[in-house]
Amino acid sequence: MNAPDNRNARAYRGYALTQVPPEDEELTHVGPGTPGGELFRRYWQPVALASKLGDVPLAVRILGEDLVVFRDLEGRVGVLHRHCCHRGASLEFGIVSQRGIRCCYHGWLFDVDGVILETPGEPPESPIRHTASQGAYPVCEFGGLVFAYMGPPGSVPPFPYFDTYEQPDNRLIPFSLWHPCNWLQLHENMMDPVHAVFLHTRVVGVQLTEAWGAMPEYDFRATPNGMMYITAKRWDDYVWIRSNHTILPNFGHTAALWEDGDAERLFTRASVTRWAVPIDDTHTVVFGVRHFNPNVDPKGYGNEAEVGEDMIDFMGQTGNRPYGERQRDPGDWDAQVSQRPIAIHALEHRGRTDKGVIMLRRALRDRIRGIARGEDPHPHVPADGSPIRTYTHDTVLWAPRGEDGDDRRRLRELANRVTDIVTGFDELAIAERQDRIERELSGLSCRRKTP
Ligand code: FES
Ligand SMILES: [Fe+2]
Repeated sequence: MNAPDNRNARAYRGYALTQVPPEDEELTHVGPGTPGGELFRRYWQPVALASKLGDVPLAVRILGEDLVVFRDLEGRVGVLHRHCCHRGASLEFGIVSQRGIRCCYHGWLFDVDGVILETPGEPPESPIRHTASQGAYPVCEFGGLVFAYMGPPGSVPPFPYFDTYEQPDNRLIPFSLWHPCNWLQLHENMMDPVHAVFLHTRVVGVQLTEAWGAMPEYDFRATPNGMMYITAKRWDDYVWIRSNHTILPNFGHTAALWEDGDAERLFTRASVTRWAVPIDDTHTVVFGVRHFNPNVDPKGYGNEAEVGEDMIDFMGQTGNRPYGERQRDPGDWDAQVSQRPIAIHALEHRGRTDKGVIMLRRALRDRIRGIARGEDPHPHVPADGSPIRTYTHDTVLWAPRGEDGDDRRRLRELANRVTDIVTGFDELAIAERQDRIERELSGLSCRRKTP
């Protein structure tokens, strides 16, 4: 039954709608000691582009902590608390040394693990260097990014290595994108496939390809490490089925950026791997790597030269465009940053298209509470050390409309069958899995009748 139209009661309500409730702290606050902060501190997080480590230290802020990142002259990378444990001078003015970093103020020398190597002004018998230390975090480098683990030292997880890094002929180009807003509104966009129909295509014009403008049938599935969206679009005689896969808490693989839907594609993989890393509660840097390979971008729309510090090779991902241009042709950055410094969930009117966002928030809340209960935050890393299987993909099948009617139902059925295949062969080795999935998907394409 339709709800009665109470238009008059809904009109001119500005005066009644001025109160702004508080944000959802549990999901959006990330500082030390907060439940959300504890979540982030169980996972390796990118903290800097490796290319930024030169002859002077790099000051960064991550999860509300002021840090410095540097590479000493022996080539080892340190991630240290920024304020010197002697009397607080900033190590951003420290001297990168043969071994570690030396504070400019009184010359204390810190190793990359925070151990004090020298306190030159103190008498030789001073015990300080054996009792104090500088806060420091374990470090990994991968794909041109520096990662730190900022959690309890007794439970450093293995560095996660994902299957999409192994795409044939793949080149990884690192990038960072700065945003003056909370991390969650950036990350949950990964589970909002409908925004692409409107923001990227119908509202102001085609920002990627026209096929993005087709309204999909869509669904979401929980996966061992997170969740995936599933979209199925009719594009002439083809059906384009696509999934992005989000890994808890803040990690995601984006499938192809440019898809014309005009040729068969089978389980092509990620074009972007990204982490929405909180600087603090109201600032976020999206670190990631762009994947360049002939499978994910066969027509060569991408441009490696446009990927790097605060830039990436598709429109609308930074605030660096003129304000008027951003108003006339807004992109992801403009829509998401403008949701307020921290989006207020209590003011939202979520609809069916927000199912993925709701599911993601619930999964995050469950994981946060699980960590507080002492549960394992890494339940699904392969025991044999092989890459973590992910489900991001694009698949385009030749599947003309049937004569008997319900094409939307057909899209949903195809999407389900494709997703069962994509998620069905995790036990196989990576190359073998790719072959098997491609073979199974190929069997779903309609075969053209030969005359
Ligand atoms: S404040 Fe750093 S050595 Fe004194
Ligand atoms: Fe987008």
